[in-house]
Amino acid sequence: MKVILLFLLSSRAMFILNSFLTKTNCFKILRRIGNAYSFRLPSTISPLGFLRSISDKLLQELVPPVHYSETKVSVIGAGQVGMACAFSILTQNVSSDVALVDAQEDKLLGEMLDLQHGAYFMNSPKISASSTYEVTANSRICIITAGARQREGESRLALVQRNVDIMKSIVPQLMKYSPNATLLVVSNPVDILTWVVWHLSGLPRHKVIGSGTNLDSSRFRFLLSQSMKVSVKNVHAFHCRLEHGDSSVPVWSSVNVAGVKLRDLDPNFATKKDEQRYDEIHRKVVESAYEIIKLKGYTSWAIGLSVSQICDSLLKNQHSIHCVSIPVKDCYGIEEDVFLSLPAVLGEAGVSHIVKINLNEEEEMHLRDSAHAIAKVSSEIKW
Ligand SMILES: NC(=O)c1ccc[n+]([C@@H]2O[C@H](COP(=O)([O-])OP(=O)(O)OC[C@H]3O[C@@H](n4cnc5c(N)ncnc54)[C@H](O)[C@@H]3O)[C@@H](O)[C@H]2O)c1
Repeated sequence: MKVILLFLLSSRAMFILNSFLTKTNCFKILRRIGNAYSFRLPSTISPLGFLRSISDKLLQELVPPVHYSETKVSVIGAGQVGMACAFSILTQNVSSDVALVDAQEDKLLGEMLDLQHGAYFMNSPKISASSTYEVTANSRICIITAGARQREGESRLALVQRNVDIMKSIVPQLMKYSPNATLLVVSNPVDILTWVVWHLSGLPRHKVIGSGTNLDSSRFRFLLSQSMKVSVKNVHAFHCRLEHGDSSVPVWSSVNVAGVKLRDLDPNFATKKDEQRYDEIHRKVVESAYEIIKLKGYTSWAIGLSVSQICDSLLKNQHSIHCVSIPVKDCYGIEEDVFLSLPAVLGEAGVSHIVKINLNEEEEMHLRDSAHAIAKVSSEIKW
């Protein structure tokens, strides 16, 4: 009896059992179950821990390891945008604990494994994924990129309604597992969906943010920097797209390079009288997403970097300023309860301040028009 027991405990017996399970496809099934909970283990180690005896020989435990992190970020929707967000967050060391959720299980598993196999080149991150929401538990930030794409001939309201229904299936789950998280909405139309997510979440207003025009502002700065022939880092400009899409306001009156306002140099800068037609840059910013979609089918890298930068500010309590989608009632004479993109201070509390940028009369009027347009669409949503 003793001999049999010893044999069973020996590593040889573990090897035989391991091979049997592999041949009979049991591992595939077990790994799938394991995958639903944690994918941190390399695929060569069995989810049942048959090789643990070797690790026990290698390591002597002093205290049990901690399995939670203070900077966990969950990404809902592992499509082009969601994966670009996850990739930027991991490679820029914004967080080393990223959970992915998507409705398409096989694609999700593929994306997760692909990222995990790069762990050696990153900061040994924990990358987990599942089609259910337990995996998101204790997140500091939940990024929502899941969304339906516009169908041919589909009205804007119909698309909003389909995305509202998707948000209804996502937000209560996120709140169940991470009641203290900040929610960051990327799905379009972003200003309206941020308001929808805020309603569904029951969170205070400052804890729900839309990615807004952080990316548009970056495009604006890039195009200006190219024409000024200076680094994009020295161009300060905001692009307040006031409803995701075409109604946007470049804040020309505050555009400056190294503190020098370009309107102070030339009052006609970017007006209709401007012979150099700087106002064309605004058109290019608005059209950039369409142009990229026409060329490659979707946009991903720049929005991923933009979202990663917003997460960095939130997680590291940086109090840095980003043009994001925030509640704007009572700002610039806006009466409606809507979210629009304005520069805001982001830190651990979420949105702590709105920056009171000087807008001229025309810019303020655009802002109020956008608020009306959004409030109209929002009022037609069926809950
Ligand atoms: N805010 C911005 O500046 C900006 C920029 C680019 C894209 N976007 C928006 O981001 C969104 C995503 O774009 P994409 O190119 O990644 O689309 P995509 O189709 O590649 O990915 C969407 C993913 O969401 C998943 N999904 C759909 N419903 C789900 C649900 N109920 N639960 C879990 N997962 C679900 C899909 O399976 C898919 O993997 C779109 O709404 C797009 O318009 C916003």
